[in-house]
Amino acid sequence: MAMAPNPAGIPPCTMVIFGSTGNLAQIKLLPALYQLERGGHLAAETQVLGFGRRDWSDAQWRDEVRQILTEQLGERIETAIADRLSARLHFIEGNLREDAAFAHLAERLRGQDDLPANLAFYLAIAPEFYGDVADRLAANGLADEDNGWVRLVVEKPFGYDLESARILGERLRRHFQEHQLYRIDHYLGKNTVQNVLVFRFANLLFEPLWNRNYIDHVQITHAESCGIGQRAGFYDGVGALRDMIQSHLLQLLTLVAMEPPPSMDAEALRDEKVKVLRSIRPIPRQAVHAHAFRAQYRSGLVEGARVPGYLEEPEVDARSSTETFAALKFYIDNWRWRNVPFYLRTGKRLADTQSLIAIRFRHPPQQLFNTTAIEQLRPNWLMLGIQPNECMRFELLVKEPGLEMRTQTETLDASTCTMGRDQIDAYEALILDVISGDHSLFLRSDEVEYAWRVVDPVIKLWATEREFIHTYPAGSWGPSEANRLFDKDDQDWRNGLNAPTPDGPSVEH
Ligand code: BG6
Repeated sequence: MAMAPNPAGIPPCTMVIFGSTGNLAQIKLLPALYQLERGGHLAAETQVLGFGRRDWSDAQWRDEVRQILTEQLGERIETAIADRLSARLHFIEGNLREDAAFAHLAERLRGQDDLPANLAFYLAIAPEFYGDVADRLAANGLADEDNGWVRLVVEKPFGYDLESARILGERLRRHFQEHQLYRIDHYLGKNTVQNVLVFRFANLLFEPLWNRNYIDHVQITHAESCGIGQRAGFYDGVGALRDMIQSHLLQLLTLVAMEPPPSMDAEALRDEKVKVLRSIRPIPRQAVHAHAFRAQYRSGLVEGARVPGYLEEPEVDARSSTETFAALKFYIDNWRWRNVPFYLRTGKRLADTQSLIAIRFRHPPQQLFNTTAIEQLRPNWLMLGIQPNECMRFELLVKEPGLEMRTQTETLDASTCTMGRDQIDAYEALILDVISGDHSLFLRSDEVEYAWRVVDPVIKLWATEREFIHTYPAGSWGPSEANRLFDKDDQDWRNGLNAPTPDGPSVEH
């Protein structure tokens, strides 16, 4: 799970990137490979083979990659490192839909000895091709581990509902064994997300409080101020629930709620996460509206500039009811968490870009100060900032200086964001884990299915209600109707790390 300090023990391999000219490869994979090269984390023999429809030579692919790196990393790119990475790059022309292309690929991989026998196939392609590519690799003997290990790296979404996820899972497992499959939820590669585990299991302090006796509720928010950009083809019909909540936010929930695992070994960790998902109270169809809320952005102001609404975005169906905002409430039916609501919320075109876990503690059992100027004590909050800043803050009440008995909120700040550490992108850590064979940060097949099972009733009901969707202006915190999920009147969204003003609304219109 950790970045290895040097390549000792990191085996050489050939990484084949399907979709080598696509968005994911350009924005994430190639810059991550560059950073791994820079850190000296790749074995000397490791090679990268781009697979794509372009009629490119190795030299053309190398030029292309250099241009991509310059665009993505700008001035940070160092020529000597780019040269070293370049020397590892090869290209093979092929069409995913054609059997012959895979026979050609097999010949290239197995026919010459310039490419290491350990193979990591990275599917940076549209999910509808996952099954076909797995079939074709296997048909050409490329799933067999006779010469070295073979690993298949798959990106979310794994299906679009429970049934399709099961079908995809079965299809992949027809040819690849579970130990060969690396299902990526890139959120788990984020340093700050892994820090949730360290925070919980390396500090004794909070463990006795980490349960229904002391915690009132948990909020997990991923907010983005950007819209869907050019991604309508993917996003329209997928929506915020599938895109973020079923995957990234449920993963965060499992880390906050899980029991301490017996060890940090991949299976032990994943067993505990699966237990959490299995304990989430199923949402009956008639309770979906009490547990789930969705909305879509309309035109509004973001950073002072007017931006179009979702329906005006390029290539979005003008009658689309795809949600760009989703909020869900879950209960985890186990001894630790019974009846503690977990509120998960995400949205595009919100007022800010940030991911935050906010844990609200209960009120003290006795309001000892109610005969003073203090009418209502503000509860303690623990804030775990995921991004853009990695922060840990604990809000406490202290007495205001002066003669009167008044309180003010003070913050204990254990933020590590100011420590100037080397920022490690999620993809660097995850690629290295694939090469080293560490499954801890990848999803197991049962984990994927349980995560779908949790949201499936909501997906099914929303699919039948296509006539109406709430809207919110771009640049706001979403519609105030999302507040209907709260169990109690004193619960409200936390929209940032700073303590809210006493009466300030958290939802803006
Ligand atoms: C992706 C979603 O999985 O995660 C995107 O498809 C979302 O819609 C992104 O923007 C958020 O991840 P990050 O790492 O950019 O915060």
